[in-house]
Amino acid sequence: MELITDITAMRSWCAAARRAGGRIALVPTMGYFHAGHLALMDRARSLADRVVVSLFVNPLQFGPTEDLDRYPRDLERDQRLAGERGVDVLFAPAVETMYPSETATRVVVGELGTRLCGASRPGHFDGVATVVAKLFHIVGPDVAVFGEKDFQQLVILRRMAADLDFPVTIVGHPVVREPDGLAMSSRNTYLSPEERRRAAAISRGLRRARELVAGGERRVEAIATAVEAVLTDAGLRSEYVAVVDSATLAPQHKVTQRSRLLVAAWAGATRLIDNCALTPSGEVIAP
Ligand code: PAJ
Repeated sequence: MELITDITAMRSWCAAARRAGGRIALVPTMGYFHAGHLALMDRARSLADRVVVSLFVNPLQFGPTEDLDRYPRDLERDQRLAGERGVDVLFAPAVETMYPSETATRVVVGELGTRLCGASRPGHFDGVATVVAKLFHIVGPDVAVFGEKDFQQLVILRRMAADLDFPVTIVGHPVVREPDGLAMSSRNTYLSPEERRRAAAISRGLRRARELVAGGERRVEAIATAVEAVLTDAGLRSEYVAVVDSATLAPQHKVTQRSRLLVAAWAGATRLIDNCALTPSGEVIAP
């Protein structure tokens, strides 16, 4: 596996791969790989001839009081894990490479980026969309793989690719979980052992909601109240519990075939998110 840190070198590598007739898959990440990231790399491998994984802790998507400085980093370990996964290139530019001087231009997401996670993280999704647009321009992937773990991000990036005419297919990959159900996340390393135990309540809440729907419940308010109770009983502080249309993120009052349940909750000082399909038939509906 090659490690590339320079934009010109990355462009040349991609141009050569395309000349050779290869399809390129891109997996954007902020590193500190876990099984969720590795599953995205495997998925990318199955979709293209060449796999590029980007590793960039993007300052633009962190708020002033957020965890940019203490975000976990381990380039050596990430290089080894990506190499073992058959990744062709790890693209790990420095901050000064991606944002050389004061940058003026941003991708603005609009209303989709102000709800749910965007309500407590103003500007976050503009930062995500801006860096992913830059990565799409640098790599020119045929396909890009993102996790359903960050469901709002996935919907926003699908919309961005359509709105800005990026010739890329966006693929969403299911949430990868720990054995107790907790969605894998680089931020899980922040949890104390006690918080880690409590955090499993989030996926229990999702399961409770699915059980209610399987039992015939369709009222979003009743479902949200039940999920809140599971979170609160475990000592978590819920930020939002929402049922939305999986394609538009529009809030719903009644569960439909397109419903997605999204949760954000705090375990101590750590903010965790998770989500699942919530359809009367129980089948998973891709966004
Ligand atoms: P990061 O949090 O590192 O996640 C990189 C990719 O891995 C995202 O598409 C995310 O949804 C996916 N992912 C994370 N945990 C997952 C899990 N448990 N199961 C499945 N997929 C999972 O998301 C970002 O970085 C950044 O916002 C980025 C898109 C790279 C832009 O900076």
